Formats: sequence, C-alpha cells, structure tokens
Amino acid sequence: MGDLQWIHVAGPLAEGVVCEQGAQVCDWTPTEEAPVLFLSGASRMEPGQPIRGGIPVVFPWFGEDPERRGRPAHGFARRMPWRPLGTEEGPDGVRVGLELVDDEASLALWPHRFALRLHALFGAAFELRLEVENRGAAPFRCETALHTYLEVGDVRSVAIHGLGGAEYLDQLDGLRRVQEAGILRIDGETDRIYHGHEARVLVEDPEFRRTISIEKTGSRSTVVWNPWVEKTARLDDLDDEEWPMMLCVESGNIGEDALTLGPGEVHAMVVRLGLDRA
Ligand code: BG6
Repeated sequence: MGDLQWIHVAGPLAEGVVCEQGAQVCDWTPTEEAPVLFLSGASRMEPGQPIRGGIPVVFPWFGEDPERRGRPAHGFARRMPWRPLGTEEGPDGVRVGLELVDDEASLALWPHRFALRLHALFGAAFELRLEVENRGAAPFRCETALHTYLEVGDVRSVAIHGLGGAEYLDQLDGLRRVQEAGILRIDGETDRIYHGHEARVLVEDPEFRRTISIEKTGSRSTVVWNPWVEKTARLDDLDDEEWPMMLCVESGNIGEDALTLGPGEVHAMVVRLGLDRA
C-alpha cells in the first residue's frame, strides 16, 4: 500500500502541510502564531483511512452512505490519493493545487465522471477553493464539505458568532429543525447542519486570546460539530482528552443545499480563514 505522501509549505507568511491523500490540509500556521487547525495525535496515518483533523474534503455525499450500501462515510474523496498540480510562491503566500478525477475505484462507488480541484493559499490568511466539475453526459447531484477542524484553547469557553437566526437540523435529535438563538456556546455533544447559511462565522477563543473568522462563497450549509466525551470514546482515532481542543466549523452544500451540476458545469466553493489577536 505504501506510505502517505505529504506536501510541506514553508513561506515567509506561513507554514503548512497537505496530505496528497484526500488533498487534506493538515496544518496552517501563520508566522509567529500557533497552529490554527487541529490534528489529532491519535489519527490513523494510513493509506485509505481518513485522517482525523485538518480539513478533510467531503464528496460526493455527506455523512453515512445515503443509500445504506456500506460505502464510506463522508464519501470517498478523503480516502483517495489526489494528483499534485504544483506549488507556487507569490506575494500573498504559497499556493498548492491538487486534483482528483474519476477512475475505476470511484466509478465502482459512484457512477459519475467528475474532476475535483483543490487550491490552497498559505499566507497571513488562508484560502481554500474546491472546484467540482461534471465530466459526464448527464447531470449529477452531489454534496460537498470542507470539514474544517479548528484548534481551540477549550471548546467549552469559545463563543461562536454568526449563526444567530439561522435554522439548523439537529443530528442528535432526529434531524429536528431548530432556530439558533444567538451566540452559540458548546456545552455538550453538538452536531448541527445549518441550511441556507452563508454568513461569516467568528470563533472567539478567550483561552488562546484570538478570534478565527470563517468566510465563504459557493457554500449554503454550515456544520458545527464537537463529539464531547461519549462520542470521543467511540472514536478510536481521537484521544479521550482531545475533544476540548477542537471545534469543527464546516462549509459545504448538504441535504437541501446539495449541488446539481449539468454536463460540463463547474461549481466553486471558497473558504477563507483569518486570525485576529485579542
Ligand atoms: C461531522 C458530522 O461532519 O463529521 C458528524 O456532522 C460526524 O455526524 C463527524 O460524526 C465525523 O465524521 P467521521 O466520519 O470523520 O468520523
């Protein structure tokens, strides 16, 4: 099977790491700052296995196999090796590109011809662009997400701004539809899909004395996830004491926000992470 392949970025504005499997960004650390992305110390780092942390690319379905046929959770893109398209240094940072195109293995799981391209910019700010192209002769429907794991001082003390008024489906309560009241604080297992949500989210972190901003285009769903104690105990690639250090704020197009692309059509989603010091 061989080992995983990594792309290391060391620019004047930031350092970063991308795993070619899944085109998974595993680190973005702006110069003189602490890492912004969480990566579990217990993660499997094996070909074909998902990596716990960084920014997994979810495609072409979100969550469990929608057809209950035993296909992998969150789709296959995060488990497959992508092809590097090159690394380039510019005034705003270092750019890294990767591509995944349908092949026999993907067609066996999902019968559509496609190309995915991921472009990451590692600068004082971080930008990730995910393009989905339909290379087949018929339209297809797909779900996407950039499943961003943020590193936080203690998830119990962060304040999440920008979700107030939005409606979410509570994945822990039979997909009950609820309206978010205002600032979200995490005080238990949390797994919510906000639909029709395009606004900027701010994660205010008093322990780390910083605020992470998440801005996006081409994405109408936002997911907030923290596994808390019991679910972490069921995950063998997350240590029992790690859940307070992470918060997932994911940008995507899920469920009623899923994409339908006609032949030749390309959809782009862009996520920008920024860092403000308190
Ligand atoms: C989140 C889902 O996006 O990903 C959760 O909303 C899920 O339900 C989590 O548990 C992690 O998924 P996985 O497949 O990486 O363990």
